[in-house]
Amino acid sequence: MSITADTDRADTLVARANAIVRATDTAEKVRLAYDTAKAWYGRHLGLGSLSLSGPMPERPGRPERPVLLAPRDMPKRALGGDAGKIALLHSLAHIELNAVDLTWDLIGRFADTRLPRSYYDDWVRVGLEEAKHFSMLEDRLGELGAAYGDLPAHDGLWQAAQSTGRDLAARLAIIPLVLEARGLDITPPMIEKAEALGDHATARVLGVIYRDEKNHVAFGAKWFRFLCDRTGERPEPKFHELVRTHFRGALKPPFNDRARSEAGLTPGFYRPLAKLTG
Ligand SMILES: [Fe+2]
Ligand SMILES: [Fe+2]
Repeated sequence: MSITADTDRADTLVARANAIVRATDTAEKVRLAYDTAKAWYGRHLGLGSLSLSGPMPERPGRPERPVLLAPRDMPKRALGGDAGKIALLHSLAHIELNAVDLTWDLIGRFADTRLPRSYYDDWVRVGLEEAKHFSMLEDRLGELGAAYGDLPAHDGLWQAAQSTGRDLAARLAIIPLVLEARGLDITPPMIEKAEALGDHATARVLGVIYRDEKNHVAFGAKWFRFLCDRTGERPEPKFHELVRTHFRGALKPPFNDRARSEAGLTPGFYRPLAKLTG
């Protein structure tokens, strides 16, 4: 067996997803995400497997800065002016960086589950878009004379994913269908606020993110239904069960019912949970 053949066989989507999550440098993480999406859509990569690439990392690689704090130790965000804008953009950049890692983790971690190629086509697109979102926010921070890493960030999001590491349906329920769906609720008011402050550049970035995130929720709903269909379970009760098991706290109204419904997340999924838990 030649070294070249070995190298090619080892260069798979799963191996690259692993490398993206492990990368500590954010520019490298973004570059790897872009390159991998290009190679996948160019049909230059096979899927690979966990037995070939090894397990996905328990924690993502991160740069030395920002300093990561427990959510309760985070300083209160400044209210106005550029400091307020920078604090908001910094916290959103941190969320998007987590989204990059969570999406590539989703691609790699469940590779031994039998899934159609279109599943990977959808999530590679999400993994690419999350990298784009991080870069756009980083650029916007740069325009304001700041950079990702200047402020502390909290460490809650990755932890939220950990209890769903062995169950794809649970992972889809929590990440796209609870957390990203929450993004659909809170982003339009943020866009309005940025516009009201005359910060059109930030509003534009948030507009792109909002549009893309609707698709991420739609992919979540589509593949959650696909898994339920396969096991013969009803999607809504299954969703309620998984969210009660894996998500702490209430689903908070007000909900953006229209955007959620357009993404296939109809009120029967989330309204009973908001009532019972909130
Ligand atoms: Fe995003
Ligand atoms: Fe997303």
